[in-house]
Amino acid sequence: MEVGVVGLGSMGFAMASHILAAGHELTVYNRTEEKAHPLMEEGATFSHDPSGAAQGDVVITMLSDDFAVESVVFGNGEQEGFLAHQSPNCIHVSMSTIGVGLVKRMQSASEDQHKSFISAPVMGRPDVAKRGELVVMASGDKALIEKCQPVFDAIGRVTHNVGDCPTQAAVVKLAANFMLSSMIETLGEAFALVRKNGADHHKFLEIMAKDFFKSPIYEKYGAIIANERFGGSAFTVSLQEKDTRLAVAAAIESKVPMPILFAVENAFLSSIGQGKGDMDPCAIAQLAAENAGLS
Ligand SMILES: NC(=O)c1ccc[n+]([C@@H]2O[C@H](COP(=O)([O-])OP(=O)(O)OC[C@H]3O[C@@H](n4cnc5c(N)ncnc54)[C@H](OP(=O)(O)O)[C@@H]3O)[C@@H](O)[C@H]2O)c1
Repeated sequence: MEVGVVGLGSMGFAMASHILAAGHELTVYNRTEEKAHPLMEEGATFSHDPSGAAQGDVVITMLSDDFAVESVVFGNGEQEGFLAHQSPNCIHVSMSTIGVGLVKRMQSASEDQHKSFISAPVMGRPDVAKRGELVVMASGDKALIEKCQPVFDAIGRVTHNVGDCPTQAAVVKLAANFMLSSMIETLGEAFALVRKNGADHHKFLEIMAKDFFKSPIYEKYGAIIANERFGGSAFTVSLQEKDTRLAVAAAIESKVPMPILFAVENAFLSSIGQGKGDMDPCAIAQLAAENAGLS
C-alpha cells in the first residue's frame, strides 16, 4: 500500500519504520525534516508539506496534541492543511491522542469534502511502538478500517474495532488512559501507607502484581514507582496531563461525573507545578509519599 505518516516523534517514527519494513511505500512529513533522514535512507520519500503525504491509500497523523493536528489538517497562518488536498482515495487515520471535539470536527469536515476519515489511537509507550506491538483501537466506517488493516498489522499486535463513529475510539483511548493514571495514583497512595508503617513496598508490589491482580501493567508501573525511576522517559507527566485534561473535557461534555479523574488531573498539575513535567507520569506517586511526610 502507499502510506503517508505525518509526525515523526517518538511514536510516529517507530510506526513509520515498521510500515516501511512491512514493504509498504512510505511518504513522510515532519515539521523538523532531519528526523526523517534515517527513514529516507531506508527508502521513504520526504514531502515538504503535509498534503504530499495524503496522496496514497492511507495517511496517518501522529502528532503531539490538538493544536498540532489542527495545524496539519486544517492549516495555520504559515501553511495550508492537507484536508483540502487529500486524495479522494486516501483514508485519513487519526492516531494521536486528541480531544473528542477535534475528532468530531475532522469527521464532519471530511464528510463535507467527500474525504475518508477514521480514528485509531493506540496504547503502548515508544518502546512498545519500536517493537511493533501497539494495541490499536479503531472506530469509523467498517470497510475503511478493514482497508487499513495491513497498516495496523505492521505497527501493532492487535486491532480492536470499538465502533462505527470515529469519536468512539477517541473516547475509549481517553478512558483507558484514565484507568492507567488512576492506577499510578492508587499505587502511589498504597505505597505511602505501606512505607509509613514500616512494611516493605517492594514485597507489597510483588503480592499485588504477581499474585493478587496478576497484572504485567501493575508490575511494570509499580516497579518504576518502587525503584523511583522517574527520569529519561519519552512518556511524560506533561503528555499524560494533556490526556487527562482531554478526558475531563469529555466527561464534562458527556455529563459524566468522574471524581477520581478530577483528582488525578490535580495530581498531574501539582507535579507540573513542581517542575516535574518531563518526568515519567509515575512521578505523581511522589506526591502521595511527600504528603505522608516520607522522603
Ligand atoms: N509517548 C507515548 O508514550 C505515547 C503513547 C501512546 C500515544 N501517544 C500519543 O501519540 C502522539 C504522539 O506522541 P509522541 O510521544 O510521538 O510525541 P513527540 O515525540 O513529542 O512528537 C510529537 C510530534 O508532533 C509534531 N508536532 C508538534 N507540534 C507541532 C505543530 N505545531 N505542527 C506540526 N507538527 C507538530 C512534532 O514535530 P517536530 O519533530 O518538528 O517537533 C513531532 O513529530 C500524542 O498524541 C501522544 O499523546 C504517546
